[in-house]
Amino acid sequence: MNEAPEKTNRLFVETYGCQMNEYDSGIVRRLFGDRGYSVVVDEKEADVILLNTCAVREKAHERVYGRLQSLNHLKRKNPGLVIGVLGCMAQNLGEDLHGMGLPVDLVLGPDNYRDLPELVEGIRTGNGGATLARLSSSETYEEIEPEVVSGCLAFVTIMRGCDNFCSFCVVPFTRGRERSRNPDSIVQEIQNLIQNRNVAEVTLLGQNVNSYKMDDGLDFAGLVRRILNETDIKRIRFTSPHPHDFPLHLLELMASEPRFCNHIHLPLQAGSSEVLNRMNRDYSKETFLNLVKQIRTLMPDVGLTTDIIVGFPGETEEQFQETLELVRACEFDMAYMFKYSEREHTLARKKYADDVSEDDKLDRLGRLISLQTTLGAEKNKREVGRSHKVLVEGTSKRSSSDWMGRTDSGKVVVFSAPEGASLTDLDAYRGTLVDVEIESCTQATLKGKADWSSASSRTGGKVRDNASEPAAV
Ligand code: SAH
Ligand code: SF4
Ligand code: F3S
Repeated sequence: MNEAPEKTNRLFVETYGCQMNEYDSGIVRRLFGDRGYSVVVDEKEADVILLNTCAVREKAHERVYGRLQSLNHLKRKNPGLVIGVLGCMAQNLGEDLHGMGLPVDLVLGPDNYRDLPELVEGIRTGNGGATLARLSSSETYEEIEPEVVSGCLAFVTIMRGCDNFCSFCVVPFTRGRERSRNPDSIVQEIQNLIQNRNVAEVTLLGQNVNSYKMDDGLDFAGLVRRILNETDIKRIRFTSPHPHDFPLHLLELMASEPRFCNHIHLPLQAGSSEVLNRMNRDYSKETFLNLVKQIRTLMPDVGLTTDIIVGFPGETEEQFQETLELVRACEFDMAYMFKYSEREHTLARKKYADDVSEDDKLDRLGRLISLQTTLGAEKNKREVGRSHKVLVEGTSKRSSSDWMGRTDSGKVVVFSAPEGASLTDLDAYRGTLVDVEIESCTQATLKGKADWSSASSRTGGKVRDNASEPAAV
């Protein structure tokens, strides 16, 4: 008699959308890791496949439908395989995802992950599929430390949900109400990341970090101050603030504290006050420009990046021209640029016809991208000859004899590794700061020469001059 094959517990997770989804996938990996699952990088080897999805634009939905279709053959080969859809699209579509002829056993929104391992076990023991898409007003996964470290960098979610209800945006419906995470658990998580995972830089995440608030009055700047005082983290970044309530004391803290990076992702969305008003964005073109001026006065070297939508309902060519004007005036270092995509549940869908033609949207997007590309490249050129403190992250994509990192302002820099340096040397230098003089640039990257005498490795030593000699032990 054949013995039943031994049950294996292998998990494959694929993440779409924003950094908050990356973080949540880390929570999911941790929950399954605690139950004896191992993570695999090839879906063909998995017993459980989870897609953590995004709903922000229709394209994000389409990618997931395509991906699920491509998983059909795995499900046919292995009927015991569990396929789950998590995240914002799961929250958005709920039950509907089961009835589409796609291989979906499980649909779970972003506030329901604590139940996930149990539900998967249920399906694996024959209980049938499930859907859970309840939004919570309190879930922050406070004590769960996610598996979400990349080299010496990590994300840390400090708040969940969003109450802004920008009229184009589905996020308040997929992520629910705004709630801030307890600062003690945030500080603890960062301390553990430093001690156990050699993390040197954290990015604090929230849909709207400057509305972080605890009952005792602690605000976002207060939280950052606590992290600076209570941990040895080398760098703190954050994303995203909302332009409508950007406090001056937060800018002053950034300006005065070298470990709090001078990089602000400040989503503009549109350059016309009328369009901004219809987007329910609560600020005008003038107030945005004034905020940018204030930021640049306090931090002349700030890195400023943004998000922009073209073709919002009713956007005229003149209003689009105002966006181009503002982009010129603000001199962003980089921008994420999108065509408006009408979303379920949103105010814009209820109130306004999606009346800018696809051709016009594409044409405007093309013109905007081309302007921003030119402006971004000009800004990069101005960096040549300057010196920056760069946190060593890893090897460059092209060659392992070049290393890469980021400036305080968030720009990617590729620089020569120390002569003869090995990957072991890189491990010792990962997460340390080095002075790099910028010598040239491409559109997206700066290139420079590192002054290795300005850096010391985590182990305290310097890189060996001659790597062919055995390292001293
Ligand atoms: N909370 C963040 C944004 C999260 S969504 C913030 O306010 O900055 C990321 C970006 O996607 C938004 O800034 C917006 O530019 C874009 N976006 C959101 N909804 C969209 C839609 N319906 N169509 C096109 N782009 C959209
Ligand atoms: Fe969406 Fe606006 Fe909230 Fe950002 S602030 S997540 S754009 S509703
Ligand atoms: Fe997408 Fe949800 Fe993030 S809709 S952008 S994954 S919050």
